[in-house]
Amino acid sequence: MAIEVAKDLFWVGVVDWSLRHFHGHELSTHRGSTYNCFLIKDEKTALVDTVWAPFAGQYIQQLKAAVDLARIDYIIVNHAEPDHSGALPELVRLCPNAQLICSTRGADSLAGLYHADWKLQTVKTGQRLPLGRRQLTFIEAPMLHWPDSMFTHLSDGILLPNDAFGQHYATAFRFNDQVDQEELHCEALKYYANILAPFSAQVLSKIDELLKLNLPVSMILPSHGVMWRQDPLQIVRKYQEWASQRPQKRATILYDTMWEGTRRMADVIGEGLADEQLPYKAYHTAVTDRNDVIADLLLTGAVIVGSPTQNRGLMPSVASVLEDLLRLGFKNKQAAAFGTYGWSGECVKLIEERLAACKFPLAAPGVRAKWMPTDQDLVACRELGRKLALAVQAG
Ligand SMILES: Cc1cc2nc3c(=O)[nH]c(=O)nc-3n(C[C@H](O)[C@H](O)[C@H](O)COP(=O)(O)O)c2cc1C
Ligand SMILES: [Fe+2]
Ligand SMILES: [Fe+2]
Repeated sequence: MAIEVAKDLFWVGVVDWSLRHFHGHELSTHRGSTYNCFLIKDEKTALVDTVWAPFAGQYIQQLKAAVDLARIDYIIVNHAEPDHSGALPELVRLCPNAQLICSTRGADSLAGLYHADWKLQTVKTGQRLPLGRRQLTFIEAPMLHWPDSMFTHLSDGILLPNDAFGQHYATAFRFNDQVDQEELHCEALKYYANILAPFSAQVLSKIDELLKLNLPVSMILPSHGVMWRQDPLQIVRKYQEWASQRPQKRATILYDTMWEGTRRMADVIGEGLADEQLPYKAYHTAVTDRNDVIADLLLTGAVIVGSPTQNRGLMPSVASVLEDLLRLGFKNKQAAAFGTYGWSGECVKLIEERLAACKFPLAAPGVRAKWMPTDQDLVACRELGRKLALAVQAG
């Protein structure tokens, strides 16, 4: 059901309680999600964004109850990704008088995704669209998180930034002050770490640009999760903090194991960290949700990675998380490697090479144990933990 967010501005989105994976199966969404879209009634009627195709029917039915579709003058596409554009083919057919509006890069992605002959009006940063009492201003936001991404700003201070500032979080109520704050923080951080972190530099400069424009911001209504109406700038401050990737004084141990030898080493490295009073978490990567680990890693001060040597390589779950660290552009972490082997023993060298590719300084030499770690190996593990803790505390 449509919800009036502000006078003549309606949320016309869909709550998806059952979503458990997003971007195919790339991203876990334990708490579901929402697809937020907005209807603005004025002298002119505008619709901002749509929903993922499986929800197109529900979305259009809800929209029909809120407005005569023939009266829609503009359909604004802030972002062409299918979770926001999926209802467009049907909507375009049902709204004969609507002008589609998107960024220049949006025209490119819509053409590539839908192969349709829609007449698109492209807009650039600063371009305005008067609706009557309200005026819209468009702000291109390339790589937050696609080249086509765009924000729409309403003259009464409401920002529609699409995917930026969102969370995959299905809730009974639509606003940030109506939900569990711990859950909200957890989902907003996981979303940032997994989706936006590679574009942290663009996030910082876009926020600077927005602050310099001095536009009023009374609410921030992202395209997923709850909408920020109570202290809306809190999420902007959080994004500045997350994008700067200042490391926290804590560590993260990541490991996989077949016969528990590498796990034994991980446990004792943890004891070394605790000896120096550094908090840490240890994850057995093969049995832990990959996206939850990524959320933990964004701001951790140290990453200590272990794997047995398997077929002259690393175990797949460890190789995968090392690949994530590189792809997501995580920064500012002390690092170290450990692992076991039986004969060829490449594990530590391979991990250290990947940590070097991430530009993480090695705060201690890696520890490698043949078969099951000996007492002497475990002494070296404990020492490794202590050294890492001191490096983090000194940083
Ligand atoms: C399927 C498999 C493949 C392995 N491949 C290698 C290898 O290529 N080179 C090597 O040095 N050790 C190899 N090993 C030996 C393991 O590294 C060794 O058993 C190690 O102690 C396992 O550590 P874990 O107790 O943490 O699982 C392999 C072991 C298994 C079970
Ligand atoms: Fe997106
Ligand atoms: Fe999205």
